[in-house]
Amino acid sequence: MAQIRRARAVELEALSALCLRSKAVHGYSATLLEAFRQELTLSHWDLDEDEVAVAVDGEDNILGIVQVSTGPAGCFLEKLFVEPDRAGAGVGRVLMDWACEAARRRGAPNMIIESDPGAVGFYTRYGAREAGTAPSESVSGRSLPRLLLKL
Ligand SMILES: CC(C)(COP(=O)(O)OP(=O)(O)OC[C@H]1O[C@@H](n2cnc3c(N)ncnc32)[C@H](O)[C@@H]1OP(=O)(O)O)[C@@H](O)C(=O)NCCC(=O)NCCS
Repeated sequence: MAQIRRARAVELEALSALCLRSKAVHGYSATLLEAFRQELTLSHWDLDEDEVAVAVDGEDNILGIVQVSTGPAGCFLEKLFVEPDRAGAGVGRVLMDWACEAARRRGAPNMIIESDPGAVGFYTRYGAREAGTAPSESVSGRSLPRLLLKL
């Protein structure tokens, strides 16, 4: 069973690389992945402003990352990425549970998820319901499924 702990500043580069590797499982072209890079890069600002945690194994190897933000537009699941060779082993569930707790701690009544199309089924398992679409931050003209999860 994966454990959860806060992400550390020294891990920012490795976590950004993990996000990109994980995103690649959906079969995007190298060009598209490059377009996603900036959005998937974690900064000190993310650690300071948002809730960012990692799932680790018993030897503290990182298995996945999650990031939750809150602001005037609501509470957002900013990132949820599992190391590709650890997918399907319950890591995503542990990260998602933590994200919901973090959002509740921040007083959010619900969480907005602008999901990769390939991950919608994962979120609907948690009771998220589809609520329109949202423009991609990375690719002009691309829209993403927008989901709302009541907490
Ligand atoms: C989507 C993702 C976070 C799921 O994490 P995971 O560790 O593989 O998921 P888990 O093993 O915890 O699975 C929990 C449940 O969700 C289901 N599930 C996992 N991924 C799913 C998907 N893409 N679609 C539908 N159901 C999914 C599992 O079958 C499992 O069901 P069960 O409770 O009946 O056993 C992970 O596969 C991932 O990082 N994918 C690539 C990056 C990505 O798309 N991230 C989301 C960005 S919005």
